[in-house]
Amino acid sequence: MQIHSAQFVKGAVSPRGFPNDGPPEVAFAGRSNVGKSSLINMVLGRKSLARTSRRPGKTQEINFYRVNDVVYFVDLPGLGYAKVSKREREAWRRLIASYLDKRPTLQLLFHLIDSRHRPMAVDLELAEMYRGSGVPVIVLATKADKLSGNRRAAAHRTVRDALAEIGLELPIVMTSANTGRGREEILEWIGGLLEVN
Ligand code: GTP
Ligand code: MG
Repeated sequence: MQIHSAQFVKGAVSPRGFPNDGPPEVAFAGRSNVGKSSLINMVLGRKSLARTSRRPGKTQEINFYRVNDVVYFVDLPGLGYAKVSKREREAWRRLIASYLDKRPTLQLLFHLIDSRHRPMAVDLELAEMYRGSGVPVIVLATKADKLSGNRRAAAHRTVRDALAEIGLELPIVMTSANTGRGREEILEWIGGLLEVN
């Protein structure tokens, strides 16, 4: 797939706000601050279409972006952001779960995990949310620019082993929003699974 155009469509705070005009969707999920919005911008070749922040908890809605007029990219809020109330955190979790659960147009899910750390409890919690959904999932290990070559290889194994421990075997792509690493591979997965170009 090649990117020709991308526009923000809308943000939704509840399932009633999800668009229902039906193109296939690719969603980006992961813990707060892992780099979801930055990676979407990198893949789209746009500097700041998706809003990013050094502070966790930036994306508070489910944001839909129309790409090439044939697919939606979906930027999910981060899981596990500690600095909002428990109630708010729970509301985001439910919003994400309801999206992952009953979204017939969701055809590919990218699960972003920070390549610098062992997968955390929230990463595994997200895995439990999509396990059994039948949606193809690819893991994107983020911020790989912060690791040397050796540590990148080790990080890949760490993520693979943590997923294996909970019985998941998923493709893992090392990525960096700063250097563009992983972009071609991400676009190939989208093009291959969604049959769009
Ligand atoms: P929430 O919306 O709060 O859940 O965060 P998010 O997952 O969308 O993360 P966001 O893209 O806002 O990035 C969080 C921080 O990580 C920002 O300071 C980014 O500049 C930084 N960041 C994101 N991707 C990369 C990357 O590939 N490399 C480096 N070095 N920093 C990154
Ligand atoms: Mg974000």
